[in-house]
Parts: sequence; structure tokens; C-alpha cells
Amino acid sequence: MSSSLSPRSSILNISPYVGGDVVPPGFIRRIGLSSNENPFGPSPFVKNIIRSGIDKIHFYPNSNATVLRQAIADAYNIDPSWILCGNGSEDTLHLLARTYATEGDEIIFAESAFGLYQIATLAVGAKSVVVPRENFKLNPEAVLKKITPQTKIIYLDHPGNPVGNFLHKNDLLKLIQEVPSSVLIVLDAAYAEYLEGEEGYTSGIELISEFSNVVMARTFSKAYALAGLRLGWIYANPKTLDPVNRIRPPFNVTSLTQSAGIEALKDTAWVKKAMDHNAVWRPWFEKEIEKLGLTFIPCYANFSMVNFGDKVTDVYQFLGKNGIIVRPMGAYDLPTYLRITIGQAHEMEELVDLLNKFYA
Ligand SMILES: Cc1ncc(COP(=O)(O)O)c(C=O)c1O
Repeated sequence: MSSSLSPRSSILNISPYVGGDVVPPGFIRRIGLSSNENPFGPSPFVKNIIRSGIDKIHFYPNSNATVLRQAIADAYNIDPSWILCGNGSEDTLHLLARTYATEGDEIIFAESAFGLYQIATLAVGAKSVVVPRENFKLNPEAVLKKITPQTKIIYLDHPGNPVGNFLHKNDLLKLIQEVPSSVLIVLDAAYAEYLEGEEGYTSGIELISEFSNVVMARTFSKAYALAGLRLGWIYANPKTLDPVNRIRPPFNVTSLTQSAGIEALKDTAWVKKAMDHNAVWRPWFEKEIEKLGLTFIPCYANFSMVNFGDKVTDVYQFLGKNGIIVRPMGAYDLPTYLRITIGQAHEMEELVDLLNKFYA
């Protein structure tokens, strides 16, 4: 029987998301370096609470994630009534688009920005307005030039994924001051923990009390290693969050996830270990890349962006067939690059050995 259903036309323009979990035919996934996950996995505190929480999963979760929000508030020294939790950042980023934009509106984001912004924009029938980068960096003036009366949201991946850099905090503040207060600015600081203490970086957390049109988005998928459980949160003025909360599915964060988040926040030493590892192994990997005569985009998070030029497909295939999955960047208009997550020491050594073999 033919169907007379017609989805919103903009939805048919969305290219279905291809995740880093995809393993092409002939590839072996022994080492996954394609999705910027924390290679050490979650804290033992998290594993224990999940085991003990299993007996209670016949109950619905707390619909306001009350204890989790308090734990986040304590960890970041902020007010829990300014926090909203979601099923990963992807959930909160979608909720913001659904709350603040509709058909005919415009949503701004940068060239080669995190792919979800485009999906969230088209999902609500809004128009994507893409700001070109200059040498992979965002120029705040170029963002301001794109603002029109139709602009409703600016998504800033901060630092960027996949380009890995960020706006200096002075430039960020200036940009926020110049954007009209009717435009929502989403500071997506998914990798903020990796940039702790980085000169010129701020997640924007201290700006939220001053600017009610700014939202900071955070995730437990990266530093806290909970990608598979799905936990994200946004921090903003309660007046900004109130309409978001009205459309939020009430049970969007499972009970196991809420408990896991609380435990993950307690184990600061576990997170620090992973951040310290990254601070050593990303520069190590970049040096090895230079020894091979290759170039990379300087990145500040838990991944490297390496330019393999016309050898990119051959390198991707060679690594995949030998058990290491990395991420091709054609979908981000960077077709000669592979994005490579910083893995454990033995994984990085094996990767470099394979690259040396390839280029021998
Ligand atoms: C910039 C950025 N924002 C958000 C996310 C999504 O995070 P989550 O796993 O919480 O949905 C990612 C994941 O890679 C990311 O790179």
C-alpha cells in the first residue's frame, strides 16, 4: 500500500549520522580510536554502583535528576536549579534547538563543526548558516557578520570537534557581548576537562550568571568515560532552562546513569589520571607524526587531526585491516584528514608502528 505520510521536508535533507562505531567490511576493531572516548573506561566507583543499581531498574528514574544535579552543582560550585540533564549532550543540544528555533529561523555554526548542529537545525526546519574558518580557526567577526533578524541560535563547539581549537577567552567574551541578547549562544564544552589550565581557555562557566542568553553544554562521555550510558548537562539561567524543561522527556536520564554520574564525579583521581595521560601522549603522537613528515591541525582535546594527503584512504584501510579504527573526515569537508583519538600507551605505540610500516 502506498503511504501518504510526508515528513517535514528539511528532515529528508539530513544525512544519516555515521558514527565511529561503524566497522567497514574487512576491518577488524581491536583498537577503537574513532570516537574520542576515554580509553581507560569508567571509574571502579561507577562499575560498583551499576552492579548494585540493577535490582532497582523496575522503578522509574527521578524525573528531575535531583541528586545528580546537586552532585554536579557541588563539583562545579554552581546552583543546581541552573542545571538540566539529558541523555548525552546530543539530547540537550537537540532540546535547545526544539525550544528556541523553528521553521524559517537561522542557526549559525562553524565550518567543520560537530555534526549534530546541522542535524538539530534541520530537524526543526531551521536554516544552517555556516561560518567559514580561517586556517581552521573561528574569527568572531565572521560569526557576527552572519547574524540576521532570523538568527535564533549560535552553536560553538568549544573546543571544536574535529578541528580541536578554541576562541581565546577575551575573544569569546567580546563575541558574547556583541551578539544580540535575543540570540541563544550554546557553548559546547564537551572536552573542557582536557583543557583545564590551558592558557586562554574557558568553558564559559563563569559567564553564565552574567548572560542569560548563554548556555554551557557539558558531557560525561569524554573525561568521565560514560559515553555508552549517555549523560550530558546544560548550565544556564533558570529562565532560559524553564521552556527547555517543559519539552524534556521526563525520564530522559536513566536511574543507572544518574547514579553513575554521581559516582564518576566523586572519583576525581580517576579523571585526573586520564587527563594526565592525554597531556603526555597527544604531544608524543604529534612528534611521531612529524617524524613521518606529516602535518596535523593543533588540537587541544583528546584527539589529533592528521593530514595524510592523497594517501588518506590507503592509510585508513591499512590501519582498519590491521585492527585500528580511526575516523575519516570527508563528512567534515576535511577529506585528507583522519581524526585519531588518543588511546592507551600500547595502542598509540601500535598505531605508530603501523604508520611507520605503511610509510617504510
Ligand atoms: C563537540 C561535541 N559535542 C557534543 C558531543 C556529544 O556528546 P554526547 O556523547 O554527550 O552526546 C560530542 C561527541 O563527540 C562532541 O564532540
